Amino acid sequence: MECRILSIQSHVVRGYVGNKSATFPLQVLGFEVDSINSVQFSNHTGWFCLFRVERNPKMDTVPHSYIWYCKDKSFLEVVVSIIQELKKATPGLVYVCDPVMGDHGLLYVPENLLPVYKNEVVPLADILTPNQFEAELLTGRKIKTEDDAVEVMDLLHEMGPDTVVLTSTDLPSKHGDQFLVALGSQKTNGTSSSQKICMDIPQVDAVFVGTGDLFAAMLLAWTHHHPKDLKTAFEKTVSVMQHVVKRTFTYANEMAGPGNKPSAAQLELRMIQSKADIENPSVVVEAKVL
Ligand code: ATP
Ligand code: PLP
Ligand code: MG
Ligand code: NA
Ligand code: MG
Repeated sequence: MECRILSIQSHVVRGYVGNKSATFPLQVLGFEVDSINSVQFSNHTGWFCLFRVERNPKMDTVPHSYIWYCKDKSFLEVVVSIIQELKKATPGLVYVCDPVMGDHGLLYVPENLLPVYKNEVVPLADILTPNQFEAELLTGRKIKTEDDAVEVMDLLHEMGPDTVVLTSTDLPSKHGDQFLVALGSQKTNGTSSSQKICMDIPQVDAVFVGTGDLFAAMLLAWTHHHPKDLKTAFEKTVSVMQHVVKRTFTYANEMAGPGNKPSAAQLELRMIQSKADIENPSVVVEAKVL
């Protein structure tokens, strides 16, 4: 059966974040993608210069799934009412929410968005993909250990979503500081129990932008194919990420030349060049069941 995705995220003219980071890989995997651009920028905010063009969202299609990115309270509230209506009209609709609020202790949306996320958005989400900082904001709990992370994911389940993935954390990896840790939790159908998984991800020595958005898109795709097997969906998602960031890193260093640090422009994700890996990712990481 055809699967249609409505993706509400930012658009950039050059480079890969938001919808530019989600649409191509989802299309490559056979999904029909309808996109609404929440904002239009010339390039992502990590570049030196930026032009901004505001856009009005308009909708005329019924989606099956849904992702988005937003900075404005009234826009967030409009999106909430759209999701509510779509959920009523489309049984089985899966809403993936990446609650983009900040990272590494820094809030980059207005504070008045937090209660809207907590009380209105998260309760509607089927799949939630916060980073550590966002998970802490939503639950009011700090994550210092793996047990804290497990507790925070359970608190997030209580708020609504059956699937929760902490896309990146600062937890130390047992394999050393060359690894970053991500965790996931999926409620077992109709019970109060859940499967918890953890993954040590080989870290590439650069800061990438658009990877959070690509992660959410690939998690949506692979949970669609493995709805009751978060471990497999997670391994395929992170494997795609590994292929893309490694290819990007190699290219960026070649462009920068020996001894030079690659620029933000040189570190734009090598998305098109990664088409084959996106279509059929060889699994290069293994998740551990906790
Ligand atoms: P959000 O975008 O919602 O803030 P986030 O902060 O978790 O989420 P990223 O830090 O981009 O987003 O991480 C998302 C995923 O991207 C990670 O799980 C990992 O698979 C991949 N990733 C990002 N940066 C690196 C890196 N330097 N090395 C290896 N993988 C990376
Ligand atoms: N959208 C825009 C316009 C951005 O500038 C950024 C980051 O700079 C993002 C989205 C987020 O990208 P990521 O997937 O790395 O979280
Ligand atoms: Mg991050
Ligand atoms: Na995230
Ligand atoms: Mg992000």
